[in-house]
Amino acid sequence: MLNVLVLVSGGGTNLQAILDSITDGRITDAQVVGVISNNPKAYALERAKAAGIPGQCISPKNFGTREEFNAEFLKAVQSYEPDLIVLAGFLVVIPPEMIAEYRNRIINIHPSLIPSFCGTGYYGLKVHEAALDRGVKVVGATVHFVDEGTDTGPIILQRAVEVQAKDTPEILQKRVMEQAEWKILPKAIDLIAHGKVCVTDGRAIIEE
Ligand code: GAR
Repeated sequence: MLNVLVLVSGGGTNLQAILDSITDGRITDAQVVGVISNNPKAYALERAKAAGIPGQCISPKNFGTREEFNAEFLKAVQSYEPDLIVLAGFLVVIPPEMIAEYRNRIINIHPSLIPSFCGTGYYGLKVHEAALDRGVKVVGATVHFVDEGTDTGPIILQRAVEVQAKDTPEILQKRVMEQAEWKILPKAIDLIAHGKVCVTDGRAIIEE
């Protein structure tokens, strides 16, 4: 059984997709052991509560220095003894010591086809605004392992979504979530739970 810790900052629809996928059997041999948010008001914490999953908030705002936050954040994560950490809309930079300790055991969902519209400053709605500004016709989402860079780790799964003429950033964001994010994030967790993902020479290889 893969013990999964989910880190969130907002609405938690990706967390919900994971929980629903465990309930309906799209993810097997995995369980969510905890949810950590940096935002006390994150609706994701309500979703965790409703599912009977331990949730807690730990925010950099409550610490004098980033080092103090990073140390307490690492302790909080370790207390769940996770096999896999899932960043499901988590908007805090992961400390290097956490990346080192959980190398290739932290995954992130990003709302674009990496390497487009990713890196510092590209998160949430900003990604979709940038895609519409550029006029691309195909967007999508990516699940990748987290390394020391921003959105630079090995890519596990991607799914494309077509842009439509009347899209606003909000409409496009919703379609990318529905058609891509809520499908590939649970799929990646299921693949990892069954030992079907390995990283070789900086690339993730999927054994289907
Ligand atoms: C999702 O669209 C996720 O891909 C994005 O934040 C949203 C969180 O929604 N993550 C990033 O932009 C990370 N760079 P949710 O809280 O409803 O799952």
